[in-house]
Amino acid sequence: MIKHPAEPFRIKSVEPIHLISHEERKKAIQAAGYNIFLLKAEDVYIDFLTDSGTGAMSQAQWGAIMEGDESYAGARSFFQMKEAMDEIFGFEYFVPTHQGRAAENILASLLVKPGNYIPSNMHFDTTEGNIRARGGRPTNLVIDDAFDPANRNPFKGNMDLKKLKDFIEKTGAENIPFGTITITNNAGGGQPVSLQNIREVSALYHSYNIPFFIDSCRYAENSWFIKQREPGYSHKTPLEIAREIYSYADGAWMSAKKDALVNIGGFLAVRSAELYQKICNELILREGFPTYGGLAGRDLAALAVGLREGLQEDYLAYRIAQTSYVGESLLAAGIPIVEPPGGHAIYIDAGRLLPHIPQHEFPGIALSNAMYRAGGIRACEIGSVMFAYTDPDSGKMIHPKLELVRMAIPRRMYTQSHFDYVLDVLKEIRESKDQLRGFKITYQAPLMRHFTARFEPL
Ligand code: F0G
Repeated sequence: MIKHPAEPFRIKSVEPIHLISHEERKKAIQAAGYNIFLLKAEDVYIDFLTDSGTGAMSQAQWGAIMEGDESYAGARSFFQMKEAMDEIFGFEYFVPTHQGRAAENILASLLVKPGNYIPSNMHFDTTEGNIRARGGRPTNLVIDDAFDPANRNPFKGNMDLKKLKDFIEKTGAENIPFGTITITNNAGGGQPVSLQNIREVSALYHSYNIPFFIDSCRYAENSWFIKQREPGYSHKTPLEIAREIYSYADGAWMSAKKDALVNIGGFLAVRSAELYQKICNELILREGFPTYGGLAGRDLAALAVGLREGLQEDYLAYRIAQTSYVGESLLAAGIPIVEPPGGHAIYIDAGRLLPHIPQHEFPGIALSNAMYRAGGIRACEIGSVMFAYTDPDSGKMIHPKLELVRMAIPRRMYTQSHFDYVLDVLKEIRESKDQLRGFKITYQAPLMRHFTARFEPL
């Protein structure tokens, strides 16, 4: 029996990549202040920094790009996107945005007042940043299993319903302008949320009259996991599952740079006509007219095609098997990861791999530096640099529960032999891991410091 599905495509156009020498890599990372965000991409061999906007578009998408309609208002490309949006998400209204955080900014600017709380399973960094920037407090209420990396709960991204109910009771529904859930749960290992959980979360929010929004970057991967893992869904298509998911929501936003297989784009969708009108006003002020929202017509055309391709079963089967291959191979080699392997990324448990480096010395930065030095691999810390914050009540530094390094896998881009190379490099690092040292921060920005921080090895 064939265990591993091969790529359901062949390669028509290639982009060369090079591994610069060890000496050059040492110089490059030093010049970048030991922050992999500040490297030149050309100095990277295998780039796992993000799965966002980095995927390969299909011939159908490139074809659509040539046919993009650049009319300022009412472009044909907008209506192509609208057709796909109606088919998949079924919201009454939507606007395109240039990416996910533009949608988050609009939503936060309209709904979040200082002192408000926004619950989610887990917020990702830009969502957190946009809520905090308006004086709001993002709150993570994922199930406890999410913090146990070895726990194989099939729906580890689920919201803890008891925590959510207690939280709403304690803070008061009037202080919660909207509630959300992130599918899949990026900050918690790319783990899916079950349809049952989405249904129950929606019912709970609605019982308090709190509007329910879904952060939808990886909704297609989440739909695939539901098909594979949730009783009663194996005979449904990812499209049917997606439709059911969104039938429970009052709104959604998406960074289309993930599951819609485009290099730029996003949307904000709602059911309320009143809110839609306000969104249009904000959009016009900062992004563009509501039928293009800061994108070119050709981007909308590629997005319309990508939304549908992202739900194709052979693509999703290959995609999730690829991630799983990387994750299970690392586990077999004794490298701890967040289990089970997620959808878009493998999260190496740097805290457990490097127990001699304490949280305030950033084990994730130590590992991501080692991966670059040893093999030209770029992977991103998702730990204390990204998520530690000073609690506004106690003034204390709160560290996240896990110190992870995320290898986000661009869509349709790397082949099995790229992954075998990466596995070899990581096995080599594991052999000499006790020699790795921590880092200290020499510069940091007040919000989202991970993008621009500079470090020095200890
Ligand atoms: N929500 C989630 C769950 C995300 O993962 C991201 C982006 C966003 C919102 C914001 O979207 O980048 O288009 O503005 N995540 C990327 C990542 C950057 O690497 O995980 P954006």
